[in-house]
Amino acid sequence: MKKERIIIYGGSFDPPHKAHFKLLKSAIKEIRPDKVYVVVGWQSPFKSFSSVSYHDRERMFKIGAREFNLGGISRLIFHPFEYDRKKITYTYQTINYFSLKHPRSQLFFLMGSDCFNSFNRWKNYKLIMKKAVLLVGKRKGFLPVSLPKKAIVFLKDVFPEISSSEVKKTLFIKGFSKNILVSVSAYMEQKKLYLIHIHKWLKLNLNRKRFRHCKEMTKLALELADKYGVDLEKTAIATLLHDAARDLRENKLKLWANKNRKKIPFFRFIMDNAPLIFHSYMSADIARSKFFIKDRDILNAIKLHAIGALRMSILGKIVYVSDIAGKDRDAAFAATIRKEAFFNIDAAFFSALKCKLEYIIKEKKRMHPRSRIVYQALSKKIYPNLASAKQSGKSSFGPPLAGGKTDSRIRRLVFNEARREIHKRRRRRI
Ligand SMILES: [Fe+2]
Ligand SMILES: [Fe+2]
Repeated sequence: MKKERIIIYGGSFDPPHKAHFKLLKSAIKEIRPDKVYVVVGWQSPFKSFSSVSYHDRERMFKIGAREFNLGGISRLIFHPFEYDRKKITYTYQTINYFSLKHPRSQLFFLMGSDCFNSFNRWKNYKLIMKKAVLLVGKRKGFLPVSLPKKAIVFLKDVFPEISSSEVKKTLFIKGFSKNILVSVSAYMEQKKLYLIHIHKWLKLNLNRKRFRHCKEMTKLALELADKYGVDLEKTAIATLLHDAARDLRENKLKLWANKNRKKIPFFRFIMDNAPLIFHSYMSADIARSKFFIKDRDILNAIKLHAIGALRMSILGKIVYVSDIAGKDRDAAFAATIRKEAFFNIDAAFFSALKCKLEYIIKEKKRMHPRSRIVYQALSKKIYPNLASAKQSGKSSFGPPLAGGKTDSRIRRLVFNEARREIHKRRRRRI
């Protein structure tokens, strides 16, 4: 009697994209299975936990399978094996389960060539090969690792190079991806997944230039987040929403700030000297009230993107730097800071702060007291070898920096602001 053929297709499907469906369609066409089990992962052993629920990922797969015409989804069985366990599940455990469930069947484990090339590093991979035939979809330029050939079947089709993590990044940056099926994309929008709803809101509430600025900034910030091990979704939320209130008129910002003055440090200074700074506090408020963001790291990064702070998280520094150094800024300094940020985020933060101070000098504006404190502290931290200059009495307010007109102008500004502060305190004492 002919053995029953079963394909097992597992993955986090975060999100499910066109290549997933194409791979499954080819596998069904070639193997002609009696059953297909789609096992949506609860938590991948290789990836951080997805913010999109198991149910949403499973639903998106079902919707996409219908749109992709996968021979009617009745043949697909969505099995909650990994979800039911509620803990990290390795593939060998999944395959073991199905081989016990179907002892007389021929099992095929479907995977893309990207997974295949790291397969010999998977836990108990030999057990997987003993219990199932590997069904591999090749990508262009694929060179297989050496494994016993008898347990591997390569599909005839060649598949596009698409990865869920890249698709996810594109969704965070652009709000859409050409690798996502229309029906899946509509579901994402309806369920407010992958920040698509934030993009939609920004498009309606920001001018085109500002919207582009937020997207370019997100692109850079995600690269930096990757480099410094910061959560990508948190980073994208902070950068997308950092200027949510930036296009509001000054009187609206002032009105909002007056109602929320207790939440705003240096309220009087900002009101009298630079009311536009209120936009950072109001943007954090929009993130909280409109998009239900509760994460303090995200809200603080939004609040502090205009003035900085002494104790800033890496996310806060990434947001601050990306605001100045995104590709939408064509000034030469943006490219320099961009490069610097990948080597030393603190140094890039300091350079970005200096850029803002230069702007303040050019516009003949007052410097926020907190920015001054941050400048003084950072100049000591980043140029400690120059600290001896301070002891020798050359400067009373932080060591001299690398030199040049800009640095001396900034130092003068810092000096004047600090002196003003001292006088103010003395007057208060009198
Ligand atoms: Fe801003
Ligand atoms: Fe900005």
